[in-house]
Amino acid sequence: CGIVGYIGQKQAINILTRGLKHLEYRGYDSVGVAVLDNGKVTSYKTKGKVDMLIDQVNKENIYGTIGIGHTRWATHGVPSDKNAHPHSDNAERFFVVHNGIIENYVELKNMLKEKGHVFTSETDTEVVPHLIDDFFDKDLETTILNIIKKIKGSYAMAIVDKTNPDKIIVVRKDSPLIIGLGKEENYVASDIPALLEYTKNMYILEDGEIAVITQSDVKVLDINGKAIDKEVFTANWDAEQIGKNGYEDYMIKEIFEQPQAIRQTLGSYLKGDEVSLPFIISKEELDKIDSITIIACGTASYAGRVGEYLLEKLTRIPVKVEVGSEYRYKDPIIDDKKLIIILSQSGETADTIAGMREAIKRGAKVIGVTNVKGSTVSRELEYVIHTLAGPEVSVASTKAFTTQLLSLYLIGLYIGKERDQIDAEKYKQSIDTLRILPEKISGILNNKKAVEEVASKLSKYENMFYIGRNSDFPICLEGSHKLKEISYIHAEAYEAGELKHGALALVTEDVPVICLSTIEHVFDKMVSNITEVQARKAIIINIRHENIPSIDNVDSEIIIPAIDDLFTPILAIIPLQLLAYYTAKFRGCDIDQPRNLAKSVTVE
Ligand code: G6P
Repeated sequence: CGIVGYIGQKQAINILTRGLKHLEYRGYDSVGVAVLDNGKVTSYKTKGKVDMLIDQVNKENIYGTIGIGHTRWATHGVPSDKNAHPHSDNAERFFVVHNGIIENYVELKNMLKEKGHVFTSETDTEVVPHLIDDFFDKDLETTILNIIKKIKGSYAMAIVDKTNPDKIIVVRKDSPLIIGLGKEENYVASDIPALLEYTKNMYILEDGEIAVITQSDVKVLDINGKAIDKEVFTANWDAEQIGKNGYEDYMIKEIFEQPQAIRQTLGSYLKGDEVSLPFIISKEELDKIDSITIIACGTASYAGRVGEYLLEKLTRIPVKVEVGSEYRYKDPIIDDKKLIIILSQSGETADTIAGMREAIKRGAKVIGVTNVKGSTVSRELEYVIHTLAGPEVSVASTKAFTTQLLSLYLIGLYIGKERDQIDAEKYKQSIDTLRILPEKISGILNNKKAVEEVASKLSKYENMFYIGRNSDFPICLEGSHKLKEISYIHAEAYEAGELKHGALALVTEDVPVICLSTIEHVFDKMVSNITEVQARKAIIINIRHENIPSIDNVDSEIIIPAIDDLFTPILAIIPLQLLAYYTAKFRGCDIDQPRNLAKSVTVE
C-alpha cells in the first residue's frame, strides 16, 4: 500500500493525488483521501485505481491545505469503497491511513465494540481511529504514543485530527515512512518517488519513531516521547526518472533502460580492471566462509537462483537460496562462517527483511544488494551494494533483476579472487565480458521484432513450459514468472532433464515449450530433451546463442549473442522479458499493474 500526506500553503488535494499516482505501484485495489479545512473534513474513497478517485475529486472543489491519502493492496477485507482508507472514528474526527497489518485487531475491535464503537469496514486499520477516540488524552501525539503500545504488528500510519488541523502525526514500525522537507510545507510518503517532484531532502523514519509534522516544522520523537535529532537524507534520484518518457508502459521503458543500468552500476564498482566494492571484507574472514545463503523474494529470488550457479563457479563455496517467508521460521543454521546475501530491489520487502534481521541477530556476515538508497536494507546493513538502475516502477521487475545478477558477478569475482579460485587471466577476461554486456543487451533489444512475432503466436495459449539446463534453468524460472505475472498464462519452469520425470504428461500440441539452449557444455543433452517434447507435438520456441547450432524442426528460434557461458544468463533473460511483455500486450493486459499484485510488499 502507499501513503501520502501534505501540510503547507497549497491545496492539498492536488499534491495528494499526484503523490498517489506515483505510488500506485504499491497497490491499486482501492484509494482514498481526507482533506482538512477549518474544522471540516472532505474524504473520498473508492474501490479501483487512483484515476477513479481523480475523476471524483475533479468534479468537486476540495479546499484545504492539509490532508492524507492512501492507495491500497488488500490484506484484511476485500477491495471495496468501505475498506478503502482513510478510516475514521464514529464522530469522524480522526482520520488514519495505514500500511502493514495490525495482528491483534480482532481483540482490539471486540474491546472497542463493547464500549459502543461501531465499525463500518472489515479492515484491521479501522481499530486505530477508534482507539485514538477512546483513549484520547491531552493531544494527538501523546495519545498515539499511548495507543501504539496496545497495537501488535506492523504499521506506517499518517493521522490527522479535524479539531486540530495544523499537524499530521506519523508513526512507523516495520513498514517504510518518509517525510519530505519543504519550505513552509512538508510531505509524507511511504516511498521516495512520490516526493521527488517536490523535494529531495527527507527524513527517513526508523522503527518506533513518531513525528509531529506542521507546516513549518518536523519534530521526531522516540517511543518515549523524547526528541530525536534526525539526519537529513538526500535522495539520489531525480523527478525526471519517474516518468514514462514516451514509452507505452513502465515495463518496456525499464527493459530498454537495462544497458544504461548495467553501465551505471559497473561504472561505480569497477576501478580499472578490478572489482571495487564499497566495503572490504578481509581475506582471513573470506577464507573462513563455508557456505553462502541468498535470501530474497519473487524476481530477486530468481536472481539468487542464477547466483547459485555463478557464485559456486566463481568462489567454489556452496550456495543456496531461501525465500524470505520460509527462512525466518525454519530455525536457520547460522554462524560466523556463513555469508548471507540479501537481494531486494526495494530494500523494503517484509519477508526478506525479516530474514535479514534473523541472520544479523545470529551473527552471520551479511551483504545487501538493493536498488533503493535509504531503504531498510540500505540503512541496516554495513555491507551494501546499491544497484544503480534508477527507480523501477513496473510491478514486473526487469532492470533490477539484471543489475542484481551483475552485483552477484561482482561479489563472485571479488570473493573468488581473494580466495585464489580465479587466475589472473580468467579474472581479466571476466571483467572484459562484464564491460561488453550493455552493448550485447542493446543488440538483443534491437531485435525485439523477432520476439514480438513469437509472442503473437503464443498469446492464444493458456499453458506453457520453460525448460533449460544449468544456469538456463533459473532464467526459465524468471522468464515463466514474468509471463505469469503480466499475461496470466499458466507457465512452469523445469530443469530440462527433469520434465520427463512427471510434467511431460502435460505436454500436448496445446502447450508450447520455450527452450533455453544457451549453455554450450550441456547443449547435446538439451537437444535430447527438446526432441522428447517435439515427439509430444509441442510447439517449440528455441532460444540459443549464435555459436550454438540450430535444432531441426523447431517452430521459432530467437538468437542472442555468444559470450562466456558463465555470463550468458544476463543476456538470456532479455528475450524472455520481451516475450512476456509482448504476449501480455497481445492479450490486452494491464502491463504495469497486473491483477492482485503490488510492487513493494511490506507485509508478511
Ligand atoms: C513483489 C513484486 C515482485 C518482486 C518481489 C520482491 O512481490 O511484485 O516483482 O520481485 O516483491 O521485491 P524486492 O523489492 O524485495 O526485490
